[in-house]
Amino acid sequence: MKIAVVGTGYVGLVTGTCFSETGNNVTCIDIDESKVEKLKNGIIPIYEPGLDVLFERNVKQDRLHFTTNLKEGIEGAEIIFLALPTPPGEDGSADLQYVLKVADDLGPLLKQYTIIIDKSTVPVGTAEKVHNAIAKNAKVDFDVVSNPEFLREGVAVEDFMKPDRVVVGTESEKAKKTMERLYAPLVRQGNPIIFMDERSAELTKYAANSFLATKITFMNEIANLCELLGADVDAVRRGVGTDSRIGKRFLFAGIGYGGSCFPKDVQALAKSAKDVNYDFRILNGVMDINQKQKTKLIPSIKDYFNGDLKGKKIAIWGLAFKPYTDDIREAPALYNIEELIKEGAEVSVFDPEAMENVKGIMGDKITYAEDQYSVLEDADALMIVTEWPVFRTPDFNRMDSLLNNKVIFDGRNLYELSSMEELGYEYFSIGRKS
Ligand code: UGA
Repeated sequence: MKIAVVGTGYVGLVTGTCFSETGNNVTCIDIDESKVEKLKNGIIPIYEPGLDVLFERNVKQDRLHFTTNLKEGIEGAEIIFLALPTPPGEDGSADLQYVLKVADDLGPLLKQYTIIIDKSTVPVGTAEKVHNAIAKNAKVDFDVVSNPEFLREGVAVEDFMKPDRVVVGTESEKAKKTMERLYAPLVRQGNPIIFMDERSAELTKYAANSFLATKITFMNEIANLCELLGADVDAVRRGVGTDSRIGKRFLFAGIGYGGSCFPKDVQALAKSAKDVNYDFRILNGVMDINQKQKTKLIPSIKDYFNGDLKGKKIAIWGLAFKPYTDDIREAPALYNIEELIKEGAEVSVFDPEAMENVKGIMGDKITYAEDQYSVLEDADALMIVTEWPVFRTPDFNRMDSLLNNKVIFDGRNLYELSSMEELGYEYFSIGRKS
């Protein structure tokens, strides 16, 4: 099949590359000339494990192409994916200007029946808007399909190639057949393609992300309660997660969820609900609790230093919003750094991938270390914000010789309480005894 993908961000690039891997001829289109130039020169602008191998193979085999020219890029395409940004507007709703601008441009360019697919996370009713924008100038028949993505950063290629399910919103039989053909190589193990109407598909994406954000937040609240009641959230997690109705995943308490998806999507769904006069109270709670959770360890750090952080050097392990990404959007680390600086502390940081991105925001307000040990030199405390595997089994002897105090504030519950006690550390974590 010939496919075009408009937008070469994280979703567009993974979609384009993976569909070229299943044998399609894919052209990725982006208005950003420098990005397209990089891609043409084999440089992938995002960090996503496994993407490079697929990218190189398919470029080499002439199945994956890049252009800034929309007309040229969609030439002969049976399917056009829209993978464009939908940033939150001032009122929290998703801003559709990029999606609708491309839809406007596409109308006069279509030469044969084409399926236009919304891959971006878009509010309910967008497929209709995209349809109307294209229809204004289209001279041929076309269908607009909603096909939300459920990729997790860091494992996006795996999620794409082996999806739990594929959600397709369309009532057109013709479009359904093409979508079945397109996804056939990815659903061979019996994982379903779930067909529904466009509006339900659009809502499914928001419901899934908001549910997961709520699940995490619920456990964060249980963790906070564990601290007050003298219980252990890890034990509670194991106890409840083994109930198959609840499930083991996304039950890890910590210092809040971040990233480009959960915060934005929870906010957008709450706004969509409000627009139809529905007060989605759980979501308001989720947003509020998560924001507070991000800086939950700050009071414990202050208490440890008798309320005064002036001149104290705090080392931070982990800046990305989660491991295996360099993404720092809504990352708890940023909020903690701001708070610590406000309290007069000196902050030094280390992250395996996200240092450059943080430098771009924090500049010389903090110091940047070469590795996880040098960041500890002369530090008065260690704070752990992201659960990179490299932090899970560190050389504690080496740490002892570098840190001024044997104290760790751990926002991701990386260590057993008993082993920290044995090692002689004062250890503050989430939802467990300290
Ligand atoms: C999320 C969804 O998981 C994907 O299915 C979805 O496609 C994607 O958003 C999107 O809409 O594009 P992602 O933001 O990459 O994916 O990250 P997750 O792995 O879901 O983690 C989100 C946040 O939740 C992270 O900050 C993570 O640390 C936190 N989290 C996750 C917890 O605090 N506890 C957990 O048990 C799990």
